[in-house]
Amino acid sequence: MCGIVGILGKSSVANNLVDALRRLEYRGYDSAGVATVEDGTLDRRRAEGKLRNLEKRLLAEPLAGRTGIGHTRWATHGRPIERNAHPHMTAKVSVVHNGIIENFRDLRAKLEAKGHRFETDTDTEAVVHLITDELDQSNDPVAAAHKALNQLQGAFALGIIFAGHDDLMIAARKGSPLAIGHGSGEMYLGSDAIALAPFTDAITYLEEGDWAVLHRSGADIYDRDGARIERPMIKAVASSLLVDKGNYRHFMAKEIHEQPEVISHTLANYLDMAAARVNFPDLGVDLANISRVTISACGTAYYAGLVAKYWIERFARLPVDIDVASEMRYRETPLPENGLAIFVSQSGETADTLATLRYCKANRQHVASIVNVRTSTIARESHAVLPTLAGPEIGVASTKAFTCQLSVLACLAIAIGRARGEIAPEQETALVTALTEVPRHVAAILRNEDIYLPVAQDLAKARDVLYLGRGSSFPIALEGALKLKEISYIHAEGYAAGELKHGPIALIDESVPVIVVAPEDELFEKTVSNLQEVAARGGQIILISDAPPEKAGCKLAAHIPMPVVDAFIAPLLYAVPIQLIAYQTAVQIGTDVDQPRNLAKSVTVE
Ligand code: F6R
Repeated sequence: MCGIVGILGKSSVANNLVDALRRLEYRGYDSAGVATVEDGTLDRRRAEGKLRNLEKRLLAEPLAGRTGIGHTRWATHGRPIERNAHPHMTAKVSVVHNGIIENFRDLRAKLEAKGHRFETDTDTEAVVHLITDELDQSNDPVAAAHKALNQLQGAFALGIIFAGHDDLMIAARKGSPLAIGHGSGEMYLGSDAIALAPFTDAITYLEEGDWAVLHRSGADIYDRDGARIERPMIKAVASSLLVDKGNYRHFMAKEIHEQPEVISHTLANYLDMAAARVNFPDLGVDLANISRVTISACGTAYYAGLVAKYWIERFARLPVDIDVASEMRYRETPLPENGLAIFVSQSGETADTLATLRYCKANRQHVASIVNVRTSTIARESHAVLPTLAGPEIGVASTKAFTCQLSVLACLAIAIGRARGEIAPEQETALVTALTEVPRHVAAILRNEDIYLPVAQDLAKARDVLYLGRGSSFPIALEGALKLKEISYIHAEGYAAGELKHGPIALIDESVPVIVVAPEDELFEKTVSNLQEVAARGGQIILISDAPPEKAGCKLAAHIPMPVVDAFIAPLLYAVPIQLIAYQTAVQIGTDVDQPRNLAKSVTVE
């Protein structure tokens, strides 16, 4: 994750760009840079490391210009050195970028073949040359940027300025947030409203797929189909400039929609995307010599751990013991020599998880925690901390923290598999490439949100709902049931699909919706057999699958289509529809989505 800003100002903007970047430093500080248009020419200053290095550079070599963009970097593609720092530019265009351009290798190869010379290891530079290439043909910056945007794959936010155009900036949002700030005869752009707080509180949030053309007089916004569209301008109040809901009705909705960005941020911390390799921090233990992994957590975090059991056992061929922390802490379970104990917690303060951690530590386990709050007690008491970079999660129902926990655990499974010689380099490349594509697929799923409304309207009338899944989809079924019951108060149960006939099938009749999480993997046919059993008893089946509905072989109440992906990343993607189903059902019922009854965000009692 990186921070981007832009200003169309009345006077020199370099210092204000740096001010805005300072408020975005939480998004990354590997390097920083600003670029401006002065007398029709683009120029830039960049510096490795924290923002203060850029400030020193600007003092020594000031940068004039009333139109500028700035960037603070969290390196994904290419080492954190000045050469790779943003803004990237040619003589015609300069770009700041947050996110990942997935097809940058293909674009780069094509553009190099046409004679473009690349100077960095970044994915962003492909965007710069792509726009330059379009400008070589048309010299119309808006048309050139639009054509280039249509060729980009991935989840990203962009700010773009052009040589010879002192009153023009282009912004684009696809999977990473972007806010436009309205001043008096000035316009601003920022990764969030906090960055723009010193200049304006009049904010327009771009929505997924939007792109905008900014002039000092205002912004023209276009949707993903190129249609001119109005987005509301809101007044950001001082407190909301810390954590606000943006255009969303609830924090939960905002947090669901932040997932492309925060997953990409989290993955960037554990992967070398350019080399398609896992780049895991040293846990202080030899991953090749672990005898067993023990995972413990509560609620949603426990289900993330349960997915990891499937991944670690499959890809690293290492046994994994997992239990909810409230049970494991009293189970007096014997723990092995050379054991690695992993604790998963958004808050890092959950009492049962902490108690189990202390038990494992006392029993000579090497303790690693996956937490969202780095200063938390669980983090402080662990031998190694693996942060999720989800940002503050305000909605009580965990969403983005869950998919970020899965992201870390997926990287960990590959790291252990590689250390144990169970994952060959080609397989690592394939798994890492699949992970890199997750933010884009999640963004695509979120664009299809309307299909959940009729499903939610039906579910809102149900008294009981069943969720089924097999393999790594079983924990997602459990998580689906938990999400639905905690925010809609409808009774829901998750089952391993094969367990259906051992009891729960007795519940099924025409009034019971059955939500089936079934990617078309090697277990799909088995799940289809379970679907027949449900259909034969009149159950209302809602199938979430990349397989076409005909393959269910029975009547479906609804089919939620999913992208066709490597089965490894399916849990990360199928988590999203089950969140949207729960959210929209709760909205239909009218519950307090962000603060459901009887629950708390941080459970510090046992
Ligand atoms: C459900 C949910 C809870 C938490 C659980 C653990 O949406 O949020 O089940 O996952 O209370 O909390 P943390 O992750 O803070 O340890």
